[in-house]
This record gives sequence, C-alpha cells and structure tokens, in this order.
Amino acid sequence: MQTLLLPASENANAKAAQLIKNGEIVGVPTETVYGLAASSFSDEAVRKIYAAKGRPSDNPLISHIADIDMLALTSREIPSGAYALAEAFWPGPLTIILKRGEKIADSVCAGLDTAAVRMPSHSVARDIIRKSGVPFAAPSANLSGSPSPTTAQTVLDDMDGKIPLIIDGGECEVGVESTVITLATEKPMLLRPGFITLKQLENALGCEVLLSDAVLNKLKDGETAASPGMKYKHYAPKAEITILKGSFAAYNDYVQSHADDETVCLCFDGEEALIGTKCVTYGAENDDASQAHKLFSALRQLDDIGAKTVFARAPKSTGVAMAVYNRLLRAAAFRVIQL
Ligand code: TXA
Ligand code: MG
Repeated sequence: MQTLLLPASENANAKAAQLIKNGEIVGVPTETVYGLAASSFSDEAVRKIYAAKGRPSDNPLISHIADIDMLALTSREIPSGAYALAEAFWPGPLTIILKRGEKIADSVCAGLDTAAVRMPSHSVARDIIRKSGVPFAAPSANLSGSPSPTTAQTVLDDMDGKIPLIIDGGECEVGVESTVITLATEKPMLLRPGFITLKQLENALGCEVLLSDAVLNKLKDGETAASPGMKYKHYAPKAEITILKGSFAAYNDYVQSHADDETVCLCFDGEEALIGTKCVTYGAENDDASQAHKLFSALRQLDDIGAKTVFARAPKSTGVAMAVYNRLLRAAAFRVIQL
C-alpha cells in the first residue's frame, strides 16, 4: 500500500474523513501525539489499527469526539463528575474512562465493559471527526513499543506502506499522551499521568483522586494493571537507559567515571556544554512542559545516533513532570540509580 502524506487542509481533512467512513485507518495529528484513527463503530476497521501497530489485542483504545453531544455515543450512565471534567478540560489532553456505550465496537474496548473517551483540542482532529460524523478510536500512531510520534514524519517512519494516508498538522504541542482518569471505579483514579495534573483533576472534581500504583512503580509478576497499557514495555528506544537521580554535579561525576564510546547522555538544555560526552537534550530542568514536549523526539534521536548506553537526568515526579517520569521509567525498563 502506498502511504500518502498530506498537509492538513479542507480537502485533505475531507479525504481523511471519507477514508474513516469507509472503514480505513488514517494518521491524524492531535495536541498530544499523532493518532492512528478508525471509526469507533467499525470492528473491522479498528482491528486494522491493532494489526498496523502490532498492538496486543487486550489493550483498549480511546475514542475521540468533537463535541459534548457525542459523549452519549461512546458512553452510558455518565456521572456528573464527567461533565465537571469536560467543563474544565475539554477540548484538551484528558481521557475519561466511563461505562461503555452500545455502539462502540468490541475491539475498541478489548473486552472491557468500559470505554475511554476524549475531546481533542487540535483543530485538524476536530475537523476530521466533524466531517466523518463518527467518533474515531485512535491509539498513538507508533509501532507498539516505540516512542509515540509527535511529528507526521515519525508517523511515516513507523507506518509507511501500512496505512493509506497521514495528515500533517505540524509538531504536537503537548508531546506526551493524554492524562487518563477512570470514573468507572468507586473512587476516581488516575491511570496515566499527562499534561492535566492530579491536582487539577482533584480541584475540578472536588474530591480525592487516587493514583494507580502502576504509574510510578513496576507491576509485580502476575499483577493486573487498571489500565492495560501500563503493563507493556513502552516508549523504548534500542539503547539501555538508566535514570540517574540526584544533582547535576553528582550526575556529571557518575557519567565521567562510567561513560564509554557508545554512551549518550540524555540531559537538560544547556547541560551538554558541561558534559564531555555525546548528549541529547529533552527540555529545560525547571520547565516540565518543555520536557514533555521534547521527550519522545529525544528518545527517537537516541536511536538515530545509535546510542547503546544512555544515562538520563531524572525529571521531577509531580505535576506535569509526573507524565515525563512515567514515560521515561518505562523507556528505562525501571532502571533507576539514586546517586
Ligand atoms: O493522547 C492520547 O491519549 C493519544 C492521542 C492519539 O489521543 N492516544 C493514546 O492512545 O495515547 P493509546 O492507545 O496509546 O493509549 C491508551 C491508553 C492505554 O494505556 C490503554 O490501556 C488505556 O488508555 N485505556 C483505554 N481504554 C481503557 C479502558 N476501558 N480502561 C482502562 N484503560 C483504558
Ligand atoms: Mg500508545
């Protein structure tokens, strides 16, 4: 199959919407990361997503809607908290797990009685949903296990020959996937951290939001994750990454005594001038959002330069940085050294 890469436009978006209506899958930009979109109502189309990504079939997908009226298509028994969250954060990078609506295809939910839904803020994603008239199910548009794509070119790198069309809507603003919260449990629980923080969710809901164990800890053998996606090795470049926690001085000392020719440092902007080893940077130390924005492209860059061993500076683990740390931990297979 030939993969077309088109800049977003009235015509290109209409073509994407038509393909989605016809049961095909399309690469589309969102404000978080690029998604691989198919109609949430077509089992056959959604199964093509799993095939293109090589995604395990027990890992459910997020449906994307363009306005609040569409929520009734994806979900049922919607609690008032969902409307409070929608009011506060939609359109935007928040996914809410609710009881599953009737029309959602089985393969979207991977056998669960719940369904994930979000209203993206990216104008191109919204335009495509409106033009097709259906919610689209979309995981990140990477091959399963690779870092999520934040540019149309990286979607092409992973999906060339596997999908008919990618719409280029520019570089994704947020850079990490949406925050995922479930309201389908007795108490709301954060399943995946993102740009919308735990504190913001608690403020909007006016109650405590639990933090899933799997966010910052490795699952024990046999333990099941509330969010199936959290159990898979994820975001991993080919290099072996180790996160080094501590001051920059301690980090630099460690690097000086442990680096060899194939070591690359994953550090914060400006630090590369002080380290005598090859470096890839991922944002400013005191700017969590810039780290989120750059992390996945930095991970892909490590592969591009053939890094074998990577020593990573540790982000904070609260606020937006919780999302960065969560992704980096998985990229590092939970290897962390406290300096
Ligand atoms: O920002 C995003 O959310 C992007 C863009 C494209 O919207 N999408 C994305 O999808 O990151 P994906 O498939 O890579 O991640 C979806 C996450 C997975 O961890 C999955 O296990 C979880 O959401 N999830 C989906 N449905 C669920 C459900 N019913 N219950 C629990 N977790 C669910
Ligand atoms: Mg993903």
